Formats: sequence, C-alpha cells, structure tokens
Amino acid sequence: MERLDKIISHAFGMSRTDAKKAIQSGEVSVAGAVCKNAAQKAEPSEVTLGGQAALYKEHIYIMLNKPQGVISASESGTEKTVIDLVPESLQRKGLFPAGRLDKDTVGFVLITDDGAFAHDILSPKKHIEKTYFVRTDKPIPADLPRKFQEGVVLYDGTQCLSACLEPVAPQEAVVKIKEGKYHQIKRMFRANGLAVEYLKRTAMGGLSLDDSLAEGACREISEEERKCILK
Ligand code: URA
Repeated sequence: MERLDKIISHAFGMSRTDAKKAIQSGEVSVAGAVCKNAAQKAEPSEVTLGGQAALYKEHIYIMLNKPQGVISASESGTEKTVIDLVPESLQRKGLFPAGRLDKDTVGFVLITDDGAFAHDILSPKKHIEKTYFVRTDKPIPADLPRKFQEGVVLYDGTQCLSACLEPVAPQEAVVKIKEGKYHQIKRMFRANGLAVEYLKRTAMGGLSLDDSLAEGACREISEEERKCILK
C-alpha cells in the first residue's frame, strides 16, 4: 500500500503537486470509487486516473545527458550531483548513477534505483560496451587502434581488457570499452602519450544517448530501451 499521490506521481510521471491537484479534482478512483484524499493509502493495482490504470513500476531507469561540472554521486556536501538534475516527477528514494563519469566528462549517465541491473551493466564479466567520443591534444598515432585492441597497460601496471578505437578525425576517435576503471579512457590515452581534452559517453550497450536531450536534461527510458543496454 502506498499514498495515493505517490502512486499517481510514479505511474504517470507527474510531480507530487500535479498528482495532488488531479486527486483533489476528482480524477482519481480507488477500486472504482472517486477518492479526493491524497494521503489515502491504496493498492496501486486498484488506482485509476481518468479511467486509466496506474501501473506501479518497481524500478525506474533514467537517461541523463550529463553536463560538465556535475558529479556522478547520489549525495555530496556542496557540489551539484547528477541526482539534483532529475526533475521532481522522476525523483524517488534510492536513485543513484549506474557508473560514474568524471566531473568534466559529459554524456550518457543511467540513473536508477535498481541495484541488480546496475551491477549487471557494470560488471566487466558481462562485457557491456560503453562508447565514448574522445578529442585528444595531439594527432592519434596510426598504431593506436592495434594497441587498444591488444589491451593497454596503464602507467601503474594495470592491464586493461581489449578495447576498440576508431579514429574519426586526426585528433578525434570513438572508443568502446567493456570495463570502467577509474579515469580509464584518459589513462589509456595517457599511457600512449596523449591527453584527452574532451570526453563524452555516447552509448551504453546497444542504447545510444538521445540526441534530442540537451545537456543537463533527462528522460525515463522505455522497457525496450532498457533491454537494449544489455545487448
Ligand atoms: N574514462 C574516463 O577517463 N573518464 C570518464 O569519465 C569515463 C571514462
């Protein structure tokens, strides 16, 4: 059993305020009877809004286009986090970023409250590719794709898994990695004498960042899109 305003807000992606307004205006019914009390506890399966059933989702999955200057954490003393960018209508308890981007990295961050799913897409054993667009300080050497494919050894001796590097301009490339070590892309280039000047995550698994999402904007993804991440 959940509060009626919470059920309506989650099921229809509305803010709590809008959910309360809908309830007070008599648009919401519980087991067929209109209920105007937002605090009333109800079984989600019995709730309707304008005759439409409220499908209560156990988990939520949000695609964010992260801007620079925001940190990939759930809580922070003073700094703005990716969770602060989630609008009220998509907020719920337990949201966290499934995988971190550095403060200066932009692009696709998946925000969810589903720990098991996050574990699945982050585990190197599952081989879910993360795709990045990279701009470097110097031209990319011709043998770098081969070195990435063989597995880069970082300065501290860490061996990386095989990665794919496809140059798209003299100082730009698309890179795909299947793991998420700390500062991994920057360190893979650094180990080969290049500095990363711009980094954007453009896809997770088979799901690309939605081009229509402005930096700082986010939207819930569909069940079909969620499954694409696992591909
Ligand atoms: N690799 C990095 O170096 N930074 C990121 O934010 C993501 C991958």
